[in-house]
Amino acid sequence: MMSNETLQAVRGMNDILPDEAELWLWFEEEVRDWLHGYGYRNIRMPLVEPTALFKRAIGEVTDIVEKEMYSFEDALNGDHLTLRPEGTASCVRAVLQHNLLYNAPQRLYYSGPMFRHERPQKGRYRQFHQVGVEALGFAGPDIDAEQILMCARLWRKLGLRDVALQLNTLGDAASRHRHRVKLIAYFEQHRDRLDADATRRLYANPLRILDSKNPAMRELVAAAPSLTDELDEEALRHFDEVQATLKRHDVAFEINPSLVRGLDYYNRTVFEWVTTRLGAQGTVCAGGRYDGLVEQVGGKPAPATGFAMGVERLLALLQEDGMALPKAKVDVYVVHQGERASRLASRVAEQLRDDRLRVLLHCGGGSFKSQMKKADASGAAVAVVIGDDEAQADEVSVKPMQGGEQVRVSVRNLTATVNQIIK
Ligand code: HAM
Repeated sequence: MMSNETLQAVRGMNDILPDEAELWLWFEEEVRDWLHGYGYRNIRMPLVEPTALFKRAIGEVTDIVEKEMYSFEDALNGDHLTLRPEGTASCVRAVLQHNLLYNAPQRLYYSGPMFRHERPQKGRYRQFHQVGVEALGFAGPDIDAEQILMCARLWRKLGLRDVALQLNTLGDAASRHRHRVKLIAYFEQHRDRLDADATRRLYANPLRILDSKNPAMRELVAAAPSLTDELDEEALRHFDEVQATLKRHDVAFEINPSLVRGLDYYNRTVFEWVTTRLGAQGTVCAGGRYDGLVEQVGGKPAPATGFAMGVERLLALLQEDGMALPKAKVDVYVVHQGERASRLASRVAEQLRDDRLRVLLHCGGGSFKSQMKKADASGAAVAVVIGDDEAQADEVSVKPMQGGEQVRVSVRNLTATVNQIIK
């Protein structure tokens, strides 16, 4: 038997209703303008990718790949597919598949929904939205610094307060390998103090143990061998230059040696912009360098760096600050009664739209009085009123909604009259 109960959205996946969507539209426009100011170009990838891509790029022993991916088998051909949990892997795949990196570095951005099966809470959703920014083919510290400066500029542009920058370097493959060997030896010595997650990760991905949220592990993790001690000169110089550029531009930061990020593809510079105002989910933007990923996904080695911001988190911060929603406004509401008047009304509405005005044409009949109430509620600056009397003469009445004389004008002069009122 069919049930009549109202169906609900999937837990952790949100509808964005019109009032809130106004804020999203505004945000998207600001962000696009900002990205174009730095020469970034848009790229759009599918929401679904082969599961193998994320396993290879993000790392088999990470929370995302182990626990959070929406993976499924295509019922028609048995392919293993995954709803993208992030955009970097897809972006690199697309760049390689279409040979975009051939002889030309790329500055690219994308935006849209990502999917992670996490426990939903404030600021953490199962479908959430990112704006991702990737620069491929650039090796120097100048681009790392530029991307961080970009973020700082966006916060200023949006009027965002209280986001602090945390910075770290993860060094290169050789130093990470040395660190890994030391970490394994250290944790082996303290095997009895490892929790189940850490025991599982001991040989597969010991660096992840440092990311443990378990308070019982805190002391053990704090005393673990530090990657900083293993860094080679070139990685340190790279990091110094990033810091020097930030200082020259007065961007404050804090070095956080335990910032390791939740994805395996990073090396050298990593950073997070964090606020204390969103409870536990305080990271609004994060990223870093990932020089090994292009090769890992199957391309010729190429350096790369990027970041992504969480749109829900940024908008929540702006809303907390009492950011007023810019309501989309209507210029004209067209009121009409009678058959001939209705025909003229739809012609007039189209004419006004040709002239780039925003027009609500009353639908559904009703008395002049009830239509005028709707005109009032719509927030339109002008009501255009058409009865059969006006229609006979190919004229309309124009009423300024904020008060003022109602005037009767020919259809030909309508746009000019309306423009005078809304000016
Ligand atoms: P990520 O740190 O996993 O990095 O995610 C980036 C941002 O997405 C987070 O800082 C947060 O604001 C937002 N975010 C992540 N998960 C959720 C969630 N469940 N609900 C709401 N917001 C969330 C990446 O995804 C990398 N691809 C960033 C990158 C680009 N690195 C290099 N290039």
